[in-house]
Amino acid sequence: MEPAAPTDDPALGEVVVSQAAIAARVAELGAQIADDYAGRAPLLVGVLKGAFVFMADLARAIDLPVECDFMAVSSYGAATKTSGVVRIVKDLDLDLSGRDVIVVEDIIDSGLTLQYLRRNLLARGPASLEVCAMLVREGQQKGDLGLKYVGFSIPPDFVIGYGLDVAERYRNLPDVRTYKGA
Ligand code: IMP
Ligand code: MG
Repeated sequence: MEPAAPTDDPALGEVVVSQAAIAARVAELGAQIADDYAGRAPLLVGVLKGAFVFMADLARAIDLPVECDFMAVSSYGAATKTSGVVRIVKDLDLDLSGRDVIVVEDIIDSGLTLQYLRRNLLARGPASLEVCAMLVREGQQKGDLGLKYVGFSIPPDFVIGYGLDVAERYRNLPDVRTYKGA
């Protein structure tokens, strides 16, 4: 079987955020969250599948008794654009009422997925709800999404790696890179 992401794959573009830069930023975000939520036990809600790598690193960078849950959403429409119509494919196992929820996202593009998620999760009565996004694509969002924690702002190019895929490939790349494939 061929490896999932050989580093000589011609579809791999330049490194946008390196493994080392990610590790340093995740440590900072974890420390900031531990500070902001001191004395509490926040519930991290990872949005599958893209956020699974970031979630694993972030959870270990937070020196608090965090709990983790996941949900999977899929947006209708073309593969690389979101329509804003979101379907919950896998819902959370845990009850959000009274919880300090932190939604963990891989990348915010239009922000439509997040807007839907925020509305949906707020309706479940959490004590608080904040968002931690690894990446935000610059200039694509209409209006203020109220992102409390952001890893990196990146240019408009489509990216892969560190959880982000093209047709399920490249999620295991340690760096975030542009994609040169068709
Ligand atoms: P939004 O609703 O437009 O903000 O889309 C966000 C979702 O689209 C992310 O959670 C990703 O799953 C996917 N996505 C957006 N941009 C990229 C990218 O550059 N690479 C891989 N997936 C992306
Ligand atoms: Mg996603």
